[in-house]
Amino acid sequence: MSISTKKKSYKEALLEARDSKIALGAFNIFNFTSAKAVVNAAEEENRPVIIQTSTKTVKQIGVKELGSMLRFLAEQAKVPVYIHLDHCRDPELAKQCVDAGWDSVMLDASDEPLEENIRITKEVVAYASPRGVAVEGEVGVIKGVEEDIVAEEEKPATYEDTIRYINETGIDAIAPAIGTAHGFYKKKPSINYELVEKLGTLKDCPVVLHGGTGLSDETFRRLINLGVAKVNVSTALKHACINTAKEFLEASKLEPLELDQRIEKAIKETVQGYIRLFSN
Ligand code: 13P
Repeated sequence: MSISTKKKSYKEALLEARDSKIALGAFNIFNFTSAKAVVNAAEEENRPVIIQTSTKTVKQIGVKELGSMLRFLAEQAKVPVYIHLDHCRDPELAKQCVDAGWDSVMLDASDEPLEENIRITKEVVAYASPRGVAVEGEVGVIKGVEEDIVAEEEKPATYEDTIRYINETGIDAIAPAIGTAHGFYKKKPSINYELVEKLGTLKDCPVVLHGGTGLSDETFRRLINLGVAKVNVSTALKHACINTAKEFLEASKLEPLELDQRIEKAIKETVQGYIRLFSN
């Protein structure tokens, strides 16, 4: 299926993807090499792409430093490249990213009671929206480890809570806990397709799928057909990086530039595989 590669707003891009039964891949990067690999993959596939940063990456590199580096890459790219902040628990950090050039921020107060989740999310929407920056929110709790966010147990999202959260916060994209998890799957996830189907018909709030690494092609296709507009992938990129580095170092090569090139290639090929999968 085809999708325009003309740059539009982050939310318009998600809605267009959903209506074309495509999902935009959102890939967690952790340095310049991984970010460049994602951009190169998107250019080779001629698709828009989302570069995501965890809060740990933002803190390690610095808001302004990372923001300028990613904006530079996005502006030079031949396809639309959007910058998104993944799982941010700190409203102040989310606001700093809004000011430093991110196109979208995820405020994750999902471990709080619903009322409090709504209150904190609303505070960030009130800051981001007038500045043209989208906000993603989470309802229920998505299980697993994503950098410094650790959730031992899933708390499944309900349709009622999710609709209430969307209506009261005015968020731009919703990540409900539907049974997927961060990190590698130890057993086949039990996914709430029915909830995705109901939310997939919402006019104005695209659905985000977390926990992309390890899901089957069939699961992706089914969820995208039901209305998932954005798919997050993180662990697969880290894996590509570390495995390549291990292999390279075991051969005792002291060539950091060559190591970087190999890592970039491995991540680029991983990302290309996902982009193709999300576009067919
Ligand atoms: P994986 O690490 O399982 O790919 O999940 C990524 C994610 O959902 C980031 O928010």
